[in-house]
Amino acid sequence: MKIGVIGLGYVGLPLAVAFAEERHTVVGIDTDPRKLDAVERGESYIEDVPSERLGLARQRLTATSRYADLAQVEAAVLAVPTPLTRNREPDLGPLVAAGTELSRVLQRGQLVVLESTTYPGTTRERLVPLLEESGLAAGRDFNVAFSPERIDPGRTDYTLRNTPKVVGGLTTICRERAVALYREVCDEVVEVSTPEAAELSKLLENVFRSVNIALVNELAMLCDRMGIDVWEVVEAAATKPYGFMSFRPGPGMGGHCLPVDPFYLAWKAREFDTPTEFIELAGEVNQAMPYFCVEKITRALNDHARAVKGSRVAMIGVSYKAGVGDLRESPAIKIMKLLRARGAELDYHDEFVPELPDFGLVSGSLEGSLEDADCAVIVTAHPGVDIELVVREAPLVVDFRGVTRDIEAPNLVRL
Ligand SMILES: NC(=O)c1ccc[n+]([C@@H]2O[C@H](COP(=O)([O-])OP(=O)(O)OC[C@H]3O[C@@H](n4cnc5c(N)ncnc54)[C@H](O)[C@@H]3O)[C@@H](O)[C@H]2O)c1
Repeated sequence: MKIGVIGLGYVGLPLAVAFAEERHTVVGIDTDPRKLDAVERGESYIEDVPSERLGLARQRLTATSRYADLAQVEAAVLAVPTPLTRNREPDLGPLVAAGTELSRVLQRGQLVVLESTTYPGTTRERLVPLLEESGLAAGRDFNVAFSPERIDPGRTDYTLRNTPKVVGGLTTICRERAVALYREVCDEVVEVSTPEAAELSKLLENVFRSVNIALVNELAMLCDRMGIDVWEVVEAAATKPYGFMSFRPGPGMGGHCLPVDPFYLAWKAREFDTPTEFIELAGEVNQAMPYFCVEKITRALNDHARAVKGSRVAMIGVSYKAGVGDLRESPAIKIMKLLRARGAELDYHDEFVPELPDFGLVSGSLEGSLEDADCAVIVTAHPGVDIELVVREAPLVVDFRGVTRDIEAPNLVRL
């Protein structure tokens, strides 16, 4: 097949490479010239796609900004961002831009699949009308489906290949064509009756995580007051073989998905006069976590006879999750802004994030960052970071990830 992938980011690039590895010809479209250049050079910017893999896939994968190159493809998959506006409402700008460009080159017989996470109804109410500006009719002249991406950046046990993929088509034929497309790269494809069911299934997955993380974060704040070790509590509860699923507390939610996607559903729900209180409450609790973390750091410094103002604070790990360099909505950034506003002098160590231009900082070595630090704050525990060294070298360590649980030391403070 010849397949187009629109948006070569965390979702689109691995998908494009997977199709190319199955010997399909892939046209990758992106508006970011740096990404296009990087793909052309075979240099990956996504941790899940090593450059060697991209280099091999390059024989069948071209990257371009020319939508006209999609005129020959049998299927085009859209994986563009779906962010929120400043008022926390869905921003379908990138999707509308991509859909409009695609409609100008759309051909009879093509299949279009949307993968971007969005509210139920987007495919039918927003994408289809755009594509029909081509003069072709969806479901008759071309096919349309929605299939949510379930990629978890940095994860190696579940990949595109062995994670079941949900697909909902506008018509039965739309669905069958999309199922056939994904069978090329996924072992199991799960069919649902409509694009709306597929769209909502993805949001349910993300809301479920967001609500459960908020629950355990709320418990962590209570445990802090009560003097109980929240990690021990979660671990003990997790020994129940049924009816409990373990979520870990932390400094707050980050990434493109959890802080953003649930609000797509909350926004759409308003149209149906249905309040989505779980979503709003989980958002509130999780957004409060960085403030709680700063309070905890302030207290820890105070106990060591130090004020935040003038203290040197070394942040260990600043991306939003372990093993990736993604900074989007990272709670570490919020914590750093709050600490700096209170007069702390910041330093950081994160091998996945070489620089933080907004702070005028570059990542130091672990030892270098700890030198002269009054306090080390473990916000994101990347694999391979020598936690024992952190506890040995820093006069004070605040751990928001529970990675120091095996260590007994007087200079240790944990969430
Ligand atoms: N990152 C994840 O872990 C993840 C997981 C599941 C679902 N998703 C969803 O997948 C979608 C994409 O997310 P992502 O993380 O890959 O985003 P991303 O920002 O990494 O990639 C999106 C790409 O689309 C490009 N783009 C923007 N507008 C474009 C246009 N008009 N034409 C062509 N390219 C355009 C951007 O330059 C960027 O390279 C989002 O809806 C997201 O919610 C992401």
